[in-house]
Amino acid sequence: MTEISQTAEWRDLTADAAALEKTSMRALFAGDPGRFDRFSLEAAGLFLDYSKNKITEDVVEHLTALAGASGLEEMRRRMFAGERINVTENRAVLHAALRDFSMRAYHVDDENISQLVRHELEKMKDFTARIVSGAHKGFSGASLDTVVNIGIGGSDLGPHMVVEALRPYWIDGRRTFFVSNVDGQHLFDTLAQIDPARTLFVIASKTFTTQETMTNAQSAREWFLNHGGKEDDVAKHFVALSTNASAVKSFGIDKNNMFEFWDWVGGRYSLWSAIGLSISLAVGFDNFEKLLRGAHAMDEHFRDAPLRQNLPVIMALTGVWNRNFMGAAAHAILPYDQHLWRLPAYLQQADMESNGKGAAIDGQPVSCSTGPIIFGEPGTNGQHAFYQLLHQGTEFISSDFIAPAISQSALGDHHEKLLANFLAQTEALMCGKTIDEVRAELAAEGKAKLEIDTLAPHKVFPGDRPSNSILMEKLTPETLGALIAAYEHKIFCQGVIWGVNSFDQWGVELGKALASSILPALGVEGEEKPEASGHDASTNGLLNRINAIRRQNR
Ligand code: F6P
Repeated sequence: MTEISQTAEWRDLTADAAALEKTSMRALFAGDPGRFDRFSLEAAGLFLDYSKNKITEDVVEHLTALAGASGLEEMRRRMFAGERINVTENRAVLHAALRDFSMRAYHVDDENISQLVRHELEKMKDFTARIVSGAHKGFSGASLDTVVNIGIGGSDLGPHMVVEALRPYWIDGRRTFFVSNVDGQHLFDTLAQIDPARTLFVIASKTFTTQETMTNAQSAREWFLNHGGKEDDVAKHFVALSTNASAVKSFGIDKNNMFEFWDWVGGRYSLWSAIGLSISLAVGFDNFEKLLRGAHAMDEHFRDAPLRQNLPVIMALTGVWNRNFMGAAAHAILPYDQHLWRLPAYLQQADMESNGKGAAIDGQPVSCSTGPIIFGEPGTNGQHAFYQLLHQGTEFISSDFIAPAISQSALGDHHEKLLANFLAQTEALMCGKTIDEVRAELAAEGKAKLEIDTLAPHKVFPGDRPSNSILMEKLTPETLGALIAAYEHKIFCQGVIWGVNSFDQWGVELGKALASSILPALGVEGEEKPEASGHDASTNGLLNRINAIRRQNR
């Protein structure tokens, strides 16, 4: 396999970067009145302006050629065709099949999975209707108005992010909680707010073996049995979302109370599957379906549009440009919509668990930098926290700014102010402020020369900090679906270009295994434990210290 960094396309891009070193984005804008139109595009209700990246037509052409050289189109075909492109787990990657309401059939090997998907969606629809209408009663005869989703990673971040994002669509009187952390305080604090007689526990786990989720699920079950529920009532109050029917059964949840999905749905790509049940219960199945349809519209675009006009591909390519040729180590996700407050956390898993890899798909070390650090906060909160570093720090960081033109909750002039900040930040990052501009400004304020000399260097903004702006009319189930799907495909494209398998996650295993071996060495409070010796000196020392503190707490 030719390493991507050894290709002629990579060399062209390296030369482009060198040639642009002395050119500012300001100059590129000044020299091309058509830049905004040239470097923007629209698909599935999203508008992407990528003109505030330091790119030229040549750069985009070379990036597109790089995508071609990486075999992106063939990999895209193979993914949609249900081939086992997740080679290290020998699995197909077909989350797109979960949201395809057309008559297209998807196959894994010879099995038509479209029918399985429809069957499960019907089951979710029916169950949602019974819960929301109150037809499904709990042990006391009351209907269930509270949902506690117990899951972690992809079985938490996706549904949680979407439920928060669709707050204006919440069904009146329904409450949804998400418990993920194995820290008992997460579950404890949640249980303190709910009535067992009116609660449905949704145990969400692809494998149904994840330590955090199983521990929380067992404790929730015990709490339920200690608070009025009987063994026979568990069936009315607990459902499972999983691919692992036998583990669900051993946990004590009946097959009828299990919503199934399949190994060709990756955990971090699973919110469209049964894992989305808590979304459907919060906003209704119709809105869940709209979310899926919005994602499907983006899938169709991604599948069919030429690379140069393809929104997720362009998001990926600008990312590759900034990461590999401009030197960005981090990428900020900056949603200017409070309801998207969980989006950065969701994308941290989606992106970093997918592309945070150092082994190429053929097992060789990768020949270039792969996934960047993903972080973010909703605007304008981030502005008052870490934007200082974005504007003037020594790290070079790219960003995605995301905003709806119309707010779901109009209040005074809040949205105008929010949007003004959104636009101002992208402009400030791109244009910066030169030393001459700063000096002129200070002089106009009447400052003396000495003060100008002292202050001016601190007020310079280097500019040339790249950003994409993603606009939508409103944050609706459809536009949210399209937005998430765009990011999923962006991540896929980058993985193909970097030559990694975006669909495995071996990097989470070592810590999990060590935690299991350390657990028996930790005493319960008050317990005497032998000195730890099986680990490095730091880990042994910490373990002994923790045990000593806990021993004294009799
Ligand atoms: O963090 C590792 C991981 O396997 C994720 O990929 C997954 O989303 C999460 O754990 C939860 O796994 P499960 O749904 O099987 O409980």
